[in-house]
Amino acid sequence: MNLSGVHTGPLREGERVTLTDNKGRRKSILLEAGKSWHTTKGAVHHDDLIGGPDGVVITSVGGMQYLALRPLLHDYMVAMPRDAAVIYPKEAAQIVMWGDIFPGARVLEAGVGSGALSLALLRAIGPEGRLQSYERRQQFADVAQRNVRNFIGGEHPGWEVTVGDLVEVIKDDQIDRAILDMLAPWECIDAVGERLIPGGVLVCYVATATQLGRVADTLRAHGGFTEPQLTETTMRDWHAEGLAIRPGHGTSSHTGFLAISRRLAPGQQAPMRSRRPAPGAYGPDYTGPRPANIPADLGGAGSVVPGKPVDEPPAEEGGPEE
Ligand SMILES: C[S@@+](CC[C@H](N)C(=O)[O-])C[C@H]1O[C@@H](n2cnc3c(N)ncnc32)[C@H](O)[C@@H]1O
Repeated sequence: MNLSGVHTGPLREGERVTLTDNKGRRKSILLEAGKSWHTTKGAVHHDDLIGGPDGVVITSVGGMQYLALRPLLHDYMVAMPRDAAVIYPKEAAQIVMWGDIFPGARVLEAGVGSGALSLALLRAIGPEGRLQSYERRQQFADVAQRNVRNFIGGEHPGWEVTVGDLVEVIKDDQIDRAILDMLAPWECIDAVGERLIPGGVLVCYVATATQLGRVADTLRAHGGFTEPQLTETTMRDWHAEGLAIRPGHGTSSHTGFLAISRRLAPGQQAPMRSRRPAPGAYGPDYTGPRPANIPADLGGAGSVVPGKPVDEPPAEEGGPEE
């Protein structure tokens, strides 16, 4: 069975096709023999599409032209039914690359939400991979399973959805990669850290800067993870027509941040930082978790290494002033 969700060759009954008009308006239809989609410009008959190639221009009875194309994975991710917010394709793409998701990988994901990221992960791990997905709410898990089934056209043998709070129901299996997309990923870092293989990658997707800070400091306080890489992805459309070449009018708004980190071997602690934190970063007003690799006299939770000089932060580094 083809688990990619990609179909090639002539359009078949039961497949979804997107029709786009000359104003860019889109309509998704499920091809059924004998059926029609009725528009103000007359009907489009499904039978005119079934058996024909992908990428055809079809004309309604009233003379309106539509471009018919099979949706790609990113089209489906943003159009599929959802009860929870989804990870957008621009971040899903980053997660697959920076999370180093590979064919055959054992991946953990929580929460499942509407299953948008699950689709990208299932495609990346392929038929040999395993995806353990955890979701607190049964209703969301049901939506996600329906969305994935509809896209790939069946069940992925390596996909297991468990309903419950990740920390309470997490399985003991070792995992190669983990992705957390939830309100409080810092609550799950110990549990995930116990199962992640040495060198394994953890990616946390969070929506706000406050969450980003909390997850970064929790990883530092854990001590068994590398210094997290913190990123935001922006994607800008461009308009290029003859001599008129400029950024497009639509700006992609903020969606979220990624915190990416790797698991150290058991018993290993991230090396003590040789650079001071920014002034006031871990001062008396700071109430979050304190990094294990910063000495206590600098606001961390680590012990002072005798004779080890601590450098001043580089001049360009920002941060709160005391
Ligand atoms: C933003 S949604 C995830 C969206 C999903 N990644 C997607 O692309 O469709 C966050 C989900 O995490 C679930 N959640 C939050 N905390 C959780 C936990 N501790 N364990 C399991 N699921 C959790 C919520 O119920 C919610 O469905």
